[in-house]
Amino acid sequence: MYLSVPREIRPGERRVALTPDMVAQLVKKGHKVGVETNAGLAAQLPDALYSAAGAEILPDGQTAYKQADIILKVRAPEASELPLLKPDSVVVGTLGPLSQPEVGQQLADAKVTSFSLDLMPRITRAQSMDVLSSMSTVSGYRAVLSANLLVERFFPMLMTAAGTIAPAKVLILGAGVAGLQAIATAKRLGAVVQAFDVRPASREQVESLGASFLSLPVENAEATGGYARAMAEDEEKRERELLAEPVQKSDVVIATAMVPGRKAPELIDEPMVRSMHTGAVIVDLAAETGGNCALTVPGEVKVTEGGVIIDGTLNLASTMPSPASQLYARNVVTFLNHLFDTWAKDAASAADLPPVPDDEILTATRLTAKGEVTHAPTREKLSVAK
Ligand code: NAI
Repeated sequence: MYLSVPREIRPGERRVALTPDMVAQLVKKGHKVGVETNAGLAAQLPDALYSAAGAEILPDGQTAYKQADIILKVRAPEASELPLLKPDSVVVGTLGPLSQPEVGQQLADAKVTSFSLDLMPRITRAQSMDVLSSMSTVSGYRAVLSANLLVERFFPMLMTAAGTIAPAKVLILGAGVAGLQAIATAKRLGAVVQAFDVRPASREQVESLGASFLSLPVENAEATGGYARAMAEDEEKRERELLAEPVQKSDVVIATAMVPGRKAPELIDEPMVRSMHTGAVIVDLAAETGGNCALTVPGEVKVTEGGVIIDGTLNLASTMPSPASQLYARNVVTFLNHLFDTWAKDAASAADLPPVPDDEILTATRLTAKGEVTHAPTREKLSVAK
């Protein structure tokens, strides 16, 4: 099989789907790997490292798509890449069908079979292929570092000859993968950390990291697959009322509350932002799906009239492209190993591939198969407001 890695061309995307160490693993297994020139440059991975690992360096994206049996991407192909897709080839990436519902039809029209790794089921044996967890780990860590630079406070308590300085108070909203990583990072920096999540199961994880869990009388909102369900409007309003005081007292709020395929819950409204002190910081990881804070401007860091800094940077994982690509590439190769074992073992090229077998991981992640959209997210899931 020929595996191709085109350079990501979406503005701001700095990650790459394969790293040289993962190329070496694939080459060792007998695959051919082509990498578009400079595909890894933004992640500090020059062409020479890929060549040394056994990859062929391809002069442009056109060649990468033309050569490929399997295309390895970080993000869904852009409009200019769609005509380059070879019918019968296979596309693997974070294709984002829940937030960009049109992508399924576009790939079906291109007659490719595609697998969207963000649809990975949350089962134990798929954990090592879970790109959402990997990228949330990076963004949770990065969010705290951003806040640490933006807030003019020391995170740890400092006892100096000039007196004692109190530690920063950090509040984490949403204690999923990103939230837990944010807690661990803020704790390591010495802050006093509180966290809240609508899934009561997260309390133990929060406390095991040394943070305190806010006990708020909010309905259990645990849904299937470890995710939270969307809250009704009155439930969200109640949650805001309960969070008003902890938010007001915080120096930093890292907001990570999300519901897959839905608009993020609004947990911080305008009066709550106004109640915060000058120089307080909100980093809103949910900016891509509407934001947890009403005043977040996606893609911007802004300062309110009252001096509160709201960071709505998008795609935080891509701001640490090197470690993010390392984790992503490992997830991709673990998925490919599964794909080869269960489906593509005897195929020499994409044209020889049999129908995708009935396999839990392949069925859950498959978005299209030769001209048809095979994954059908419900209308409700697709109602992501931007
Ligand atoms: P996510 O990115 O969809 O959401 C982040 C967090 O926001 C979640 O913990 C969610 O409960 C919380 N949230 C949603 N609405 C909220 C609200 N109104 N107020 C406060 N918090 C709210 O979820 P993520 O981080 O991808 O994972 C969620 C869960 O899945 C975690 O328990 C994680 O441990 C589990 N997980 C399981 C895996 C496996 O078994 N293979 C792999 C990865 C994660």
